[in-house]
Amino acid sequence: ARLPALLRQMPKAELHIHIEGSLEPELIFKLAQRNGVTLPYPSIEALRAAYAFTDLQSFLDIYYAGASVLLKEEDFFDMAWAYLGKAAADNVVHTEIFFDPQTHTARGVPFETVIKGLNHAVHRAHTGLGVSAKLILCFLRHLSEEEAFATLEKALPWRHHFIGVGLDSSEVGHPPSKFERVFARCRELGLHVVAHAGEEGPPAYIHEALDLLKTERIDHGVRCLEDADLVERLAETRIPLTVCPLSNTKLCVFPTMADHNLPALLDAGLCAMVNSDDPAYFGGYMNQNFIELFAALPQLTARHAYQLARNSFEASFVGEEQKRAWV
Ligand code: ADE
Ligand code: ZN
Repeated sequence: ARLPALLRQMPKAELHIHIEGSLEPELIFKLAQRNGVTLPYPSIEALRAAYAFTDLQSFLDIYYAGASVLLKEEDFFDMAWAYLGKAAADNVVHTEIFFDPQTHTARGVPFETVIKGLNHAVHRAHTGLGVSAKLILCFLRHLSEEEAFATLEKALPWRHHFIGVGLDSSEVGHPPSKFERVFARCRELGLHVVAHAGEEGPPAYIHEALDLLKTERIDHGVRCLEDADLVERLAETRIPLTVCPLSNTKLCVFPTMADHNLPALLDAGLCAMVNSDDPAYFGGYMNQNFIELFAALPQLTARHAYQLARNSFEASFVGEEQKRAWV
């Protein structure tokens, strides 16, 4: 691997991590036992062996099955606390964590249980790990607008526990336009807004996210390079792209890491940075993403590493004063 010490040691922000995607097979089995949940896999090894994905949906099916062991506030705390420890070890000093409440409320877990467990870990990370952490509520785009509004309603008593909303799950066939009114309401509430777009979906979905949802960042966005006008727009507005290299290779968005377009995104002057997406499923946390990316793409130098770290802070939702301190 190239530049490993620099990549590991540099302070960085993580802006695209699904907390349910940080649930390691070991913890899945531990929580299954603790909660009396029966898993369709006989062992940790058998579960891990099922992590061979061909596209986004093949991953999501297993990801939602894994989340079925999360029932109690303590389970959500344990999951988030494990992730925050990994983040601290990778010199992540700030993280904006996605969570999918509908995955849990659909199983009868109260919204309150989810948010209290996660919030407890977030607060402990500040004092215990020196990691600044915030929560972003994601709506599942394969579900209806009505269900998203109902979720927002359940979340409102906990409005001060999360800084924004996002849009995730199955992209193709569920364009941003489906959630235009939900996002308008979220913006009125003063929430930050982001959306997954251009991971498997076309560049038109990125345009829609910007025009209709008025998102401040695009999650993934790697397919923007197919649309020169879109690239120019993203460069001029400095709309960040939260890119996830290991995710993109494991979900076959790119055949191999050597085919990843992150160098081209940076060359185009875009505010792109590295994130882990679902680290328990895709083979590693932040530093593993950096190390495999730089190992596979020899044109990436220390200058690029610095730019990626800088972009992560620029794209974060921290105050301007904190941003200046990090950049
Ligand atoms: N949920 C968890 N990870 C996701 C991804 N990479 N794309 C869409 N939805 C997700
Ligand atoms: Zn994601």
